[in-house]
Amino acid sequence: MATTILVGAQWGDEGKGKIIDVLTEQADVVVRYQGGNNAGHTVEVGPEKYVLHLIPSGILYPGKVNVIGNGVVVDPVALLEEVVHLRGRNVAVDNNLYVSETAHMVLPYHRLLDVIREEQKGERKIGTTKRGIGPAYSDKVARTGLRIGDLLTPERFADRLRRKVRENNEIFKTFGHRPMSFKKIYDEYEAVGQKLKPFIADTVTLLNGAVRANKNILFEGAQGTHLDIDFGTYPFVTSSNATAGGACIGTGIPPNRMNRVVGVMKAYTTRVGEGPFPTELLDQQGSELRETGKEFGATTGRPRRCGWFDAIATRYAVMVNGIDDLAVTKLDVLDALPKIKVCVGYKHGRKMLETMPTDVDVLAACVPVYQEFNGWQSSTKHILEFDQLPKRARVYLQRIAQLSGAKLSIISVGPRREETIFL
Ligand code: GDP
Ligand code: IMO
Ligand code: MG
Repeated sequence: MATTILVGAQWGDEGKGKIIDVLTEQADVVVRYQGGNNAGHTVEVGPEKYVLHLIPSGILYPGKVNVIGNGVVVDPVALLEEVVHLRGRNVAVDNNLYVSETAHMVLPYHRLLDVIREEQKGERKIGTTKRGIGPAYSDKVARTGLRIGDLLTPERFADRLRRKVRENNEIFKTFGHRPMSFKKIYDEYEAVGQKLKPFIADTVTLLNGAVRANKNILFEGAQGTHLDIDFGTYPFVTSSNATAGGACIGTGIPPNRMNRVVGVMKAYTTRVGEGPFPTELLDQQGSELRETGKEFGATTGRPRRCGWFDAIATRYAVMVNGIDDLAVTKLDVLDALPKIKVCVGYKHGRKMLETMPTDVDVLAACVPVYQEFNGWQSSTKHILEFDQLPKRARVYLQRIAQLSGAKLSIISVGPRREETIFL
């Protein structure tokens, strides 16, 4: 395995958590490199279902090292809650979890700023998860952020926090919100910091040591390519680089030490929040996909928008991430359908586009051009070998991989570990 970056090839929720869990068997280290607790990665092990927000999905395999890299924005309270929750379910979370001392923190004022900014946008809102992700990354770039390591130096933490609370209280006043108490935040976070102390580490040195020791490292992307701050449907994106390049920046592992990129995509498409989605189905068919696929957000519980597979969007993802291998999830959700469509081009006015336009208004005006497939109309749920899949399912899979431009390597036919086909 060596170093493998796993990314979402669509708009998030592709089933990254499940595929990470499956690949963790061969990994020594699993690392999150961007995003924060806006992510919700579901892993089902036997009868148990876990939803991970900040802690890498490798935590469910005993004996693996899990790292929250410097590129992640960490809400310390949410992290501690996740640690306590996992311990309560007898998942070992000691001596196997590290959080970067240079990862930026999400603080209560970031969450309120997130809410205010969305309110101010009105109809043009992004539909964020309201976890304070955008405001935390804004502070990082503006060089006014507080980092996890600051929790270990109480005086510096107090000084920086006091300034930030004062600055943000001016904004809260303007928008009719009550000011926040520096003391209250300080006391809570100082106490949480004490509890997180054993996890805080120089993860850059730790991870580079693992690379030198030829350990197998799995980089767990959050969100997806089309939510990437640079390559996504801006401004309807998240505030970090969810694409493969983010794995270097978010961990300190140099590009020439990365070996392989796995792209995860659903056999159809979903999106949560606002923004263009060319193959969205606003009719009964869309509701059926939502019901069959249980398409409700793992973090916010919001219904996910559902639509057909978009090969233009996944081809773009293969390009910007350098995807070698494709993991196609939720094939089973299409089992009952008599006809299945795949978008093979966009029509914009009179023009035919075969690549993803970079302007969201152009994308929003695109009409998908579909190729139609006959459904296989039989259950794929318990199939373990590619050759045993119905012929029509194989044709479908091979075609979407070919259109996307990467090798079909993993097929998922259910949420659990064993419901996985390797090619
Ligand atoms: P992530 O954010 O990319 O990790 O994906 P989420 O966990 O947010 O959403 C994926 C959902 O699909 C979860 O509820 C998974 O348990 C579920 N899932 C993953 N793979 C499959 C599959 O092959 N079939 C079915 N039916 N569900 C799956
Ligand atoms: P995982 O890792 C799906 C979406 C939000 C919103 C936009 C910006 O589970 O795939 P943010 O809170 O990040 O500022 O919201 O991005 N979004 C996700 N959608 N899966 C996610 O994570 C997401 N994380 C953020 O719905 O449209
Ligand atoms: Mg998710």
